[in-house]
Amino acid sequence: MYTIFLGAPGTGKGTHAAALAEQLNLVHIASGDLFRQALDQGTELGKQAKACMKKGELVPDELTTKMILERMMSPDYLGGAILDGFPRTQPQAKALGKAMAKMGKEIDKVIYIRVSEEKLQKRLSGRWICRNCQTPYHAINSPPSVVGKCDKCGGELYRRPDDTAETIKRRLQVYFTETAPLIDYYRASGKLVEVDGEGEVVTVRQKIAAIFTEELATKTG
Ligand code: AP5
Repeated sequence: MYTIFLGAPGTGKGTHAAALAEQLNLVHIASGDLFRQALDQGTELGKQAKACMKKGELVPDELTTKMILERMMSPDYLGGAILDGFPRTQPQAKALGKAMAKMGKEIDKVIYIRVSEEKLQKRLSGRWICRNCQTPYHAINSPPSVVGKCDKCGGELYRRPDDTAETIKRRLQVYFTETAPLIDYYRASGKLVEVDGEGEVVTVRQKIAAIFTEELATKTG
C-alpha cells in the first residue's frame, strides 16, 4: 500500500507516519528526515539542500525526486510505503505518478491532514526532535518523560534550526503557494481523504489508522 501524507508544516505528518509505520509494519519515507540525514553526514546532497532548508524554501525538484525515487526502488520499499513530505509540488507529483506507473504500481490514498495556521505556529515553535531516531515531541502537547531525552532511544532532543518564527512563516508561505494546489490535484484523482488534524494526537491517529484499515481490507478482499 502506498500512501502520501499531505499537509502544512506542523500538521503532524511525521508524528503519525512514524507511529503508523511501526504499528502496521510499513516503511516510512520522510523527505525532510532524509535531507537532514544527508546534511549531518556532510554528503553532496546535504550541501545542496542546506541553503534551501535554512531559508524555509523547497529543495529543487530534480534533487528531491531523485532522492525519493531511488529510495522507493530499493528492495525493502517495494511492498509499499508511507510518503511523508513528498510530493510537495506538481512536478514532483507528476514524476512520482510516472515512476510508479512504470513499476506497475499506484498511489492508493492521499491523506490530507488539515490544521489551522494558528495551531501550526504553536506546534512548530514548541517542537523538539530526537537527533538519533527523529521522533518529534512537543514541549506542552507531548513532552518526553525525561527533559531533553527521547523516550524511544534515549537520544538527545534538539530544536530544528528551521523552527524559528521567521522560517516558520516562510515555510507556511511556500506551503500555500507550492504544495496546497496538490490537494485539488489528488482530489481530482479520487484518492484524497481529508482528516481533521486539530484534535489530540491519539484521536487524529485513530482517524488515520481507520483509513488504513479500510484500505487494507479492500485490498485483501
Ligand atoms: P520537513 O521535515 O518535511 O518539514 P515540514 O513539511 O515543514 O513538516 P514538519 O516536519 O515541520 O511537520 P510535520 O507535519 O511532520 O509535523 P510533526 O509531526 O513534526 O521538511 C523540511 C525541509 O526540507 C523543507 O522546508 C524543505 O526545505 C525540504 N524538503 C522536504 N521535503 C521536500 C520536498 N518534497 N521538496 C522540496 N523540499 C523538501 O508535528 C509538529 C509538532 O506538533 C510536534 O511537536 C508534534 O509533537 C506536535 N503535534 C503533532 N500532532 C499534534 C496534535 N494532534 N496535537 C498537538 N500537537 C501535535
